[in-house]
Amino acid sequence: MSEEKFTKKILCIGAGYVGGPTMAMIAAKCPQYKVTVVDIDEKKIAAWQTDELPIYEPGLLDVVKQARGRNLFFTTELEKGIKEADIIFVSVNTPTKTFGEGAGKSADLQYWEKCARDIRSAAESDKIVVEKSTLPVKTAIAMERILNENDKGLHFEIVSNPEFLAEGSAIRDLENPDRVLIGSKETESGLKAREEIVEIFANWIPRDRLITSNLMSAELSKLVANSFLAQRISSINSISALCEIVDADVTEVANAIGKDSRIGNKFLNASVGFGGSCFKKDILNLVYLCETLGLYEVASYWESIVKMNEYQENRFVKTITQALFNTVTNKRIALFGFAFKANTSDTRESPAFYITKKLMEERAKVVITDPKALANAKRDLAGYNDAIEYVEDPYEAADKSHAVAIITEWDLYKTLDYERIYKQMEKPAFIFDGRNILDHQKLFEIGFNVYPLGKPHLIHFKEV
Ligand code: NAD
Ligand code: UGA
Repeated sequence: MSEEKFTKKILCIGAGYVGGPTMAMIAAKCPQYKVTVVDIDEKKIAAWQTDELPIYEPGLLDVVKQARGRNLFFTTELEKGIKEADIIFVSVNTPTKTFGEGAGKSADLQYWEKCARDIRSAAESDKIVVEKSTLPVKTAIAMERILNENDKGLHFEIVSNPEFLAEGSAIRDLENPDRVLIGSKETESGLKAREEIVEIFANWIPRDRLITSNLMSAELSKLVANSFLAQRISSINSISALCEIVDADVTEVANAIGKDSRIGNKFLNASVGFGGSCFKKDILNLVYLCETLGLYEVASYWESIVKMNEYQENRFVKTITQALFNTVTNKRIALFGFAFKANTSDTRESPAFYITKKLMEERAKVVITDPKALANAKRDLAGYNDAIEYVEDPYEAADKSHAVAIITEWDLYKTLDYERIYKQMEKPAFIFDGRNILDHQKLFEIGFNVYPLGKPHLIHFKEV
């Protein structure tokens, strides 16, 4: 298709976990639009142009291949991209601030603001700027001020379109989302811009799933959605600690409460803790917002979700140490999984990182295996590289180990030959199932001492 025939020209700034897949989906579903994705990271852009994409996401390569070179382009040419686009999605990272006011809680908006200033300086025509990144409430208003303070007479309309995809299921989530949220100012130009964005998604998503709201509701809903999801995990994890003491089974409890349609059965899997780049960051962002508005009780309510998560990670390491006769020093401990969840190579805020650090402090010999995340694990643990072993093969990881700990719920770990693993391990052999994905009774019968989460421990001798 020649350039003139494209009915919309869309640019996305940021080719990461969100920008790459969301734009690939738009381009695949809407051949009538030209979609360009730009990033400052040259290596990442180069990788998007090959079959070795910079992120692992099931089904992503097929979607990219449908559109790449046809109406989907990856580039580092930001200025050119800005000039030609009618609509600019901004999907850059918004990590927690590590310095100054709000350090440790508020969002670091430097990357976002830089984009706004780059857009303002390169633009030669009016544009719609879409917040795709997760941002503190009222960022849109600040950005609008920066953008519209230009001496070219240009008008920029800001739309908030927060992303709800989850990693590992991004393609499914983008193709068939529960909802897409599009917020704008409720002025004439705001509503017109909102409709332009609705029109994009209406190419493949039923209209009744395209929800519209004002700007602040859209920004806030994103923080609240992640906080509610994390809250459910912290709630069930808190109950897992209780279950272990009163001989209840957290899976049975989750099943029993989840059958109540008012509660629902999703996000009730007890675990070593939630990870990922966003839950903690977004809750802390909400906490900071409440604190700055003087809503201290509200802030501390939400902060407790993060504290419960830290408690759960800590509890898991304590269980390992106590079970191994109160010392893990010089013991080989195999961690099965390093990604923050299955089906992704992403290790950001993975509980595995914290667990590894704690075990290293106790001078354990940690060996890490993961089918997709070993490169990221090595990068995250760069300071420890000589002391930690990284191996592809879980059997090799378990060889001569005192304990195996399941950290990530990869399907692969459900079907391993645990008789073989047991034979290779030091005795007594321990297995800690931080995701409750294994057949605990069977493992016990093989000879393992089994420590599921939130269930009675299955051990061959009296616990010390
Ligand atoms: P990411 O780190 O994977 O990607 C961000 C990209 O932006 C990086 O490649 C970086 O190089 C690029 N970038 C930064 N500044 C730039 C600039 N000035 N110009 C061009 N490129 C620039 O981050 P992500 O996981 O894709 O998250 C992006 C946003 O989406 C965050 O606000 C996050 O909270 C939100 N979000 C993430 C997910 C997720 O599953 N990861 C889901 C929903 C929402
Ligand atoms: C989450 C949300 O689910 C997305 O809607 C949101 O867009 C995204 O954050 C974001 O804003 O970044 P994601 O972090 O990719 O997505 O993955 P989840 O499936 O939500 O899992 C998060 C963490 O919770 C993982 O560590 C997972 O293992 C853990 N988890 C999840 C549990 O421990 N128990 C559960 O029952 C569910």
